[in-house]
Formats: sequence, structure tokens, C-alpha cells
Amino acid sequence: MKDFKRYLITAALPYANGPIHIGHLAGVYLPADIYVRYLRARKRDVKFVSGSDEHGVPITIRAMKEGITPQQVVDKYHAIIKDSLAQMGVSFDIYSRTSNQVHHKTSQDFFTTLYDKGLFEERESEQYYDEKAKTFLADRYIVGTCPVCGNPNAYGDQCERCGSSLSPEMLINPRSALSDATPVKKKTKHWYFPLQNYEGWLKQWILEDHKEWKNNVYGQCKSWLDNGLQPRAMTRDSNWGVKVPLPDDVLYSSPEGGGREGAGKVLYVWFDAPIGYISATKELTDNWKDYWQSEDSRLIHFIGKDNIVFHCIIFPSMLHAHGEFVVPDNVPANEFLNIEGDKVSTSRNWAVWVNEYLEDFKGCEDVLRYVLCSNAPETKDNDFTWKDFQEKNNSELASIFGNFVNRTFVLMHKLCNGKVPKLHEDVMDDVDKALIEDIRSAKTKVENALEEFRFREALFEVIDLSRKGNKYMQEKEPWKKASSLERLAASEEDGSKLTAQGSQQLIDNCLHLCLQLTANLTILINPFLPFTAKKLLHMMKVVDKMLDWENAGSVKLLSVGYSLRAPEILFRKIEDKEIEAQVQKLKNGLVKQESPKSLKGLEETASTLNQAEANNSPLGDGGKPTIQYDDFAKLDLRVGKIVEAEKVEKADKLLKLEIDLGFEKRTIVSGIALHFKPEEIVGKQVVVVANLAPRKMRGIESNGMILMAENNAGKLIFVNPDEDTDAGSGVS
Ligand code: 2FM
Ligand code: ZN
Repeated sequence: MKDFKRYLITAALPYANGPIHIGHLAGVYLPADIYVRYLRARKRDVKFVSGSDEHGVPITIRAMKEGITPQQVVDKYHAIIKDSLAQMGVSFDIYSRTSNQVHHKTSQDFFTTLYDKGLFEERESEQYYDEKAKTFLADRYIVGTCPVCGNPNAYGDQCERCGSSLSPEMLINPRSALSDATPVKKKTKHWYFPLQNYEGWLKQWILEDHKEWKNNVYGQCKSWLDNGLQPRAMTRDSNWGVKVPLPDDVLYSSPEGGGREGAGKVLYVWFDAPIGYISATKELTDNWKDYWQSEDSRLIHFIGKDNIVFHCIIFPSMLHAHGEFVVPDNVPANEFLNIEGDKVSTSRNWAVWVNEYLEDFKGCEDVLRYVLCSNAPETKDNDFTWKDFQEKNNSELASIFGNFVNRTFVLMHKLCNGKVPKLHEDVMDDVDKALIEDIRSAKTKVENALEEFRFREALFEVIDLSRKGNKYMQEKEPWKKASSLERLAASEEDGSKLTAQGSQQLIDNCLHLCLQLTANLTILINPFLPFTAKKLLHMMKVVDKMLDWENAGSVKLLSVGYSLRAPEILFRKIEDKEIEAQVQKLKNGLVKQESPKSLKGLEETASTLNQAEANNSPLGDGGKPTIQYDDFAKLDLRVGKIVEAEKVEKADKLLKLEIDLGFEKRTIVSGIALHFKPEEIVGKQVVVVANLAPRKMRGIESNGMILMAENNAGKLIFVNPDEDTDAGSGVS
């Protein structure tokens, strides 16, 4: 690797539209912080920047939902997020915000440079507009009745119930999800960044020059590049954001200001947000150019997987096009952390909020850091469960690491007068020597793993070293030697003095090495568990300087005769009742999705839309009006049995089912493919709406519908009789 002089580490700017949850910590902020703390311990010149992302649709939707202004939204959540990150020990050099003036100016200047170089394409198009809310609408913000299955809350891009891909024109009775108004079409002008022009450069830079990037990141980039890039609009119609730095007569179509339609033009949030890294560095230091515009600076972006395209394709192309900036040397993106087996959903409140954790588990910041790092979604999505949290605290942190340190300190006070005992080299045995070797090699192992962003492995190596310490202590049993010492002291026998001296030497050696091991553990654990490292420094009465990485591996860190403090409990036990309370809190807090009209769910979808412009948020129905018995009696509900099931080509969500209804076999297309594998459901009994008018989905005629229940966590469950029932039996 190139020898870099400086490091600039960025952590994704979280949207200031809600507090952060533990998925944010696990995916972005903890790995970034661990890496930065490690670099600082290695005395590297490093700057660590982040801040709140305060623009874009997620903010405006939250404002509408809370009935406050976007500025009030970002002020409120910026403060909460900043505080949570600080309390968790995330040690930014600056945590800024994109509503700052310096950011507006920096991103406008960036836009102007590209504009003046003629690098944007200006395009006019017709888009849906909400005349009540005075805003243009993305397809997702238009709802109406699905022409395929009759779902009254289908989106303008897709029906979540039957899986059909839709366009707003296809919806029956389309309305704005924001105001209920009927959308109208209006002309609008935007500036597109022709990403396809950078394809060649990107292919060389990523696919050839950065083969060392993590597989998940490299793979996603390759797939974007293989599929071909399209121009992307870098401006939006909105009043919230960084104003596009162009005069009105350029921004709006007609000289009278026509096309303005109440909405201003702002930079696309994904244009301005990554420039936030530059603005934050500018605020931090006058020498910001050393980090952004000097080839010997190493730029590394820590992000979640949904941000890969923006940090590996779009932002680097912008930087490259601008011409004065370095591009990232690595982007170690993580996958997602699920909670108790389910995807995190902020709108359903299926999340563990960091500010609430900090309230509920005061003084346990490092426990969360430990659990999230040892289970980080580095290569695939992973699951956080409260049971595992308890287990990792009680059986690893407390029983292995904490126990080793505690025993060492207690015995040192009991058997060595609270002072670091001497090392009697002449009586060292192979077990002692092996421990010294373990201490040396641990440093190399942790270092190698950290250099390559394998944080779980690095942390495992640290804990493993403490495990070795416990084993060593167990083998040496200094307490037994101490009791034999007591016996010898009481004895008048010849030679007992000599034997006593020998025993004391063995005790000294054991505790000397255990204390040196503790000092090493302090250095190695510091990037991961900084609060614990601080407590250990206090117990050893040493200064921060000892944490320098170059000290690790040495067994001469604590001077002989130096007196140390009494041990503190590093990790308290976490009780069953605390865990039960958290699980209950999650379940009680779960919000059932409402109809899109209520804006719930949309906000989350908005962040997704802003990101990958993809969607997969499940939406159920709200309450429905009362019907008469006659309406119900019109339904012909039958028990059926699934006899065949297969995926429908090019439709992720659809399965084609053959259902035996006793009197005939039916083909039914059902939107359950994301929940069940075809082979799992063959043989299942189901309840079928047998007299539903036939309809075509993806060219297949579907004759009926199967009934499914959806639990609070969004999981689909078959509705069926609770004992085997003849196919074709009526249900009423
Ligand atoms: O996904 C998100 O939460 C975005 N706000 C991340 C932005 S990262 C950077 F580009 F600012
Ligand atoms: Zn539908």
C-alpha cells in the first residue's frame, strides 16, 4: 500500500429526521471510531469528520408529520444524534451539519465549478405536481387503487399487495400522499450529471485499481458498472435544501417565472450531503486542503450498504470531474443489522434507539460497543438479540476479560502488597515464555485485522488474549503457592525458608506477567472499549501515553515496585429481568403500518428513495368501513391445498401457485415470494377467495386469491383451518 501521510476518515451523515439506532452504530460509527482510535494510537495524522444530513425529502416529511418546520426538525434531531454519538464515545474531530452556511457555500461552489465546466445536461420534463402542497411528487408519493388487485393504497411505482410494477398513470383515482389532492402534470427543468461519461474512469479506478475493496462493496460497484450508468438529476424542486446557484431566468422556463409553481430549486440531497464531508473539514481546520487536495492523504468513507453507489460511483465521479480533490482509497461498507430476526424499521419502531439505550443502561456504553462490534454485519446482514447481548456481556466481557483483570488485581494486592512484583527470569518456565509470546503475537494479529477493516476478528483476538491470561493463571495457581507459603512460614523445618523463597518467586512471576498482560489488554482494547481502557489506566495509575500502539507487545510496561489501585468492577452482570424488559419494550413499541395517507412509512421510504431509489417497505391497510352481512356473503371462501408453487420470472414478489380446490385445480398468482420459498409451501392448506374475478399478472391469469395474515413484525402467515380439511370445503 502507498505510504500516506494523512488520513481523512468520514462517517456517513445521518439524516436528522429521527434519533439514531444501533444499526447505525454497528454499520458505520463504531467501525469508523475504532479505526480512528487505532490510527491515533499509531500517531497517524488523522481527521475524523461527520455531521447531520439536514436536507432532502426525509426531513420535509418528518416536518409535515410533526407539524413543525424542517428547520425545527433538524435542530431537534441534530442535537439528539450528536449527543448520542458523543455519549457512545464516537470521537469525531468535528460533528457538523449541512444547514451550516459554510456547507451551503461549499456545495454551491462545487456545483458552480461543474456547471462552468459545462459538465451538466439541462433537461425539461413533465412531472406530477401537488397543487395543494405546492410540490412536485415522486412516483412513490402518489397513491391510488391498484388496477390489478384493487388495493386502495397502491403506490405510483408499485403495488405492495400484489407486487405489480405500476406507474402513476395506471392508478385508479390517483391522489397525493401528502395532501390527498389529485396530482397534475407540470413542466420542470433540472440539471443532470452524465454518470455514463465516467464509466471508463470508474472501471479502471475501482475494478482494476481497487481489487482489495471488500467483496460486498466491489461486487455492488461491479454490478452498477456492468449494467451501465445513466445521467442523474442533481437538482430538485423544493424549498428545503441548498439553493441551486443559478439565476431565476435559467432556473425557470418562462420569462414570467412560469414553471416556478411555488417550489424553488435546490441541490439533490445526494449532491450536497457528501460535500458535507468537505465543509466539515473546512470548519475544522484551515489546512483542510492537506486532507482533500493532496495525493498523500488517504480518504476512507465508512458507510452502510445502502450508501455504496453514492460513495463509490456518484461522489467520486463528482470529485474526479471537479479535478481538485482526492478520491476515496477505500469504502469499507457494512451490511445491515437486524433486530430479533427482523429488519430494522424506523416507521414501525422496530429498532433499538441509542438515546434510549443510554438511559436504560447507564455506564454500559462499552457493553453495546462490544456486542455490536463482535457481531458487526461485516460480510452479511446479522442479527442483534437482547439474549445475545446479555450472554456476551455476562459470559465474555465479565467472565473472561473482567474476571482476568479482577483476579490479577485482587491477587496482586493480597500476595504482593499491592505493588508490581519482580520478574525472576532465572525461574521462568515454558508456560511463562509462551504467555510472553502470546502477548507479542496478539499485537500483530489485532493490527493486521484492523488494517484490513476486519473489526470482529481484531476484537476476538483481544478477548482471546484475556482468555489466555485466565488459562495461564489457572495453570499457575498462585493462590495455592500462597497457602503453602503460609504453611512454610509456620514451619521450623530445615530448608523451609528456601522453599518459601521459591514459592514467592513463582507468585511474583505469575502476577508480574499478568499485570503486564493487563497493560497490553488496555492498549489493545482501547480502540474498541475506550471507557474500559480509561478505567484500567486509572487502576494502574498510568497516563494516556501508555496507550500508544507501539507499547503493545512489550512486557515492560509497568515498573517493578509501582503500587497500583484497588480493582474496579469493569462489567456488571446484566440480569434476566433487564433483558425481558427490553424485549417487551420492543414489542410494545411496535407500530402497525397505517395507510400511506398518514405519512407513516412514507418517511422511511423517502430515505430509501433518496438512497437507492428502490423500495421495499411493507404497507398494510388502515381500518376499513363497516360492511353488511350481504357484502360478506358474496365471498366464496374455500379450503384449498397448494399442490405446486414456482417463482414468476422477473417478479421478485410473485409466486405462481396451483391450488387443489377439490372440484377443480386453480392457478393463483400471489405476492408472497419474499416470504416463502416455493418448495416450503407445497402441501399447505390455504383459504381461497374462489369467486374473485380473474386478472392477469405478468401475463399469467390468476383465478382467486389466498388469504394471509400479517403479524406486527410484517411477517406473512397462512390463514388455514386448524385441522386437515377436505379441499373445496366452504369457509364462512
Ligand atoms: O443514508 C443516509 O442516512 C444518508 N443521510 C447518508 C448520507 S452520507 C453522506 F453522503 F453524507
Ligand atoms: Zn395490486
